[in-house]
Amino acid sequence: MADNIHSSAAVTNVIRDELIAGLCAPTASTSPKYLYDALGSKLFEAICELPEYYPTRTEAAIFERHGDDIAASVGAGATLIDLGAGNCAKAARLFPLLAPSQYVPIDISADFLHAAVTQLGRQFPDIAMLPLGMDFSATLDLPPAVSRTRRLFFYPGSSIGNFPPDEALAFLRRMREADGDLLIGVDLVKDHAVLDAAYDDALGVTASFNLNLLNHLNRLLGADFNLREWRHRGFFNPQQSRIEMHLEARRDTLVRWQGGERRFGEGERIHTENSYKYTPDGFAGLLRRAGYQPAHVWTDERDWFMVCHARRS
Ligand SMILES: C[S@@+](CC[C@H](N)C(=O)[O-])C[C@H]1O[C@@H](n2cnc3c(N)ncnc32)[C@H](O)[C@@H]1O
Repeated sequence: MADNIHSSAAVTNVIRDELIAGLCAPTASTSPKYLYDALGSKLFEAICELPEYYPTRTEAAIFERHGDDIAASVGAGATLIDLGAGNCAKAARLFPLLAPSQYVPIDISADFLHAAVTQLGRQFPDIAMLPLGMDFSATLDLPPAVSRTRRLFFYPGSSIGNFPPDEALAFLRRMREADGDLLIGVDLVKDHAVLDAAYDDALGVTASFNLNLLNHLNRLLGADFNLREWRHRGFFNPQQSRIEMHLEARRDTLVRWQGGERRFGEGERIHTENSYKYTPDGFAGLLRRAGYQPAHVWTDERDWFMVCHARRS
């Protein structure tokens, strides 16, 4: 079975063209969405357990500590649309607080999502669940079965940081146009050493997560990336206020795929992910420009991460 909506026969020319254009660009790059095949989703779960990867546990602590306030702000009975739901664990922890009338988890890693929702349905039989295996960066046009009543886009984990700020603004506007309020987690600028370690952990789990992209590309494109010829790079770029992840060629290497090839010189990189870090004011400005009212904001004791609830203006 396909482990991802991009797999095997489902590979469309659009995806192929996008990937090949990225790989052939002077500075090669791929969208971070391709990091998530079934194994990528599991590796991301492992990343969340790492001592260096503070975002997941910091965000969870904010929900733990301020759950009642957040629930009071959001109110019960929303249509909870979980963007990049993964294993759905974050939303599931909020069900008792938010009591959504419908839960709509969306993820590109479709089989992983469906397995998670099957389990969740047994735990919460009273919540209507509609899992959608789709690429939300392509469209937020949701099927008619998604209720239009009090839509709340739940976008945790600072996944908004994967978009450059102008694209993040456009994405927030699209949620606004889809009649959604927002419950969003945003990672904040902090000590660079903390950021560097979070995306280049000692155990090498993030390296495996990044390298697994090449397995995914091999399947999607019929390519012959040899993972042993590549190494992970993950670091904070202070000029751009973003974490960058790259895969770097250990030596000169020729990569072939169906209908094409590219030579990568030693040290040449494929840019695989950005994770922009915001200041509270910077993100508040983005929300305002996207058409949201000033948000209710909750942070942790160190001000490392924030959760915002924003209503449409
Ligand atoms: C960083 S993980 C976050 C998972 C979970 N929401 C959390 O906060 O721990 C990003 C998730 O979004 C999904 N994803 C990434 N890009 C996507 C896209 N364009 N469309 C749909 N899902 C996407 C991935 O498969 C993955 O499950």
